[in-house]
Amino acid sequence: MIKKNFTTIIETHSPEETVHLGYCIGKSLYPGHVVALIGHLGAGKTWLSRGIAKGLGISKNHHVHSPAFDLVHEHPGTIPMYHMDFYRLDHFSREDELWIEEYIHSDTGVCVIEWADKFIKDLLDDHLEIHLEMGGCDTDRKISLIAVGDEYYTIMDHLLQLFYIKNKNINILDKE
Ligand SMILES: Nc1ncnc2c1ncn2[C@@H]1O[C@H](COP(=O)(O)OP(=O)(O)OP(=O)(O)O)[C@@H](O)[C@H]1O
Ligand SMILES: [Mg+2]
Repeated sequence: MIKKNFTTIIETHSPEETVHLGYCIGKSLYPGHVVALIGHLGAGKTWLSRGIAKGLGISKNHHVHSPAFDLVHEHPGTIPMYHMDFYRLDHFSREDELWIEEYIHSDTGVCVIEWADKFIKDLLDDHLEIHLEMGGCDTDRKISLIAVGDEYYTIMDHLLQLFYIKNKNINILDKE
């Protein structure tokens, strides 16, 4: 089966705007959903994850930062968030595959995965893929949202509607 992709590119101009985009994403997700974050060091993956956590209703007492050597943080909330970061994973064992698959196929929470282009992309079925790149200024980020699979089309529509309510002047570079 050929999977359709639906891409939207948004430019944010501050960490707070990136958090707000994350919030709109989190508000549009349900348990079982998967968000794959791809971008260089400092691209804004963790700031976006903070916004997603806010949208999912993660308690304010749970500070969201990149999981380092422990690779995954479980944040309880209205919808739990399983926050993973594979930057420090330098080889991929069968054991890694098993525990990661357990999270990805869990229907109890949302997986948010930093450095999702390392090792695990083939494990993902339908998901929301997000590429973050530096923009023209230090505080500009070009954020490409790609809905992989029909269900994520609906999620994309919902999150964009939420996002536009507050950001009528924001720069949408492309929508196809
Ligand atoms: N528009 C923006 N969106 C997000 N972060 C921004 C923006 N402008 C500047 N920043 C800064 O960029 C940095 C992003 O850091 P963050 O930890 O989110 O990156 P990361 O992609 O998770 O990196 P790493 O791979 O090291 O975990 C922060 O210092 C933040 O203040
Ligand atoms: Mg990070």
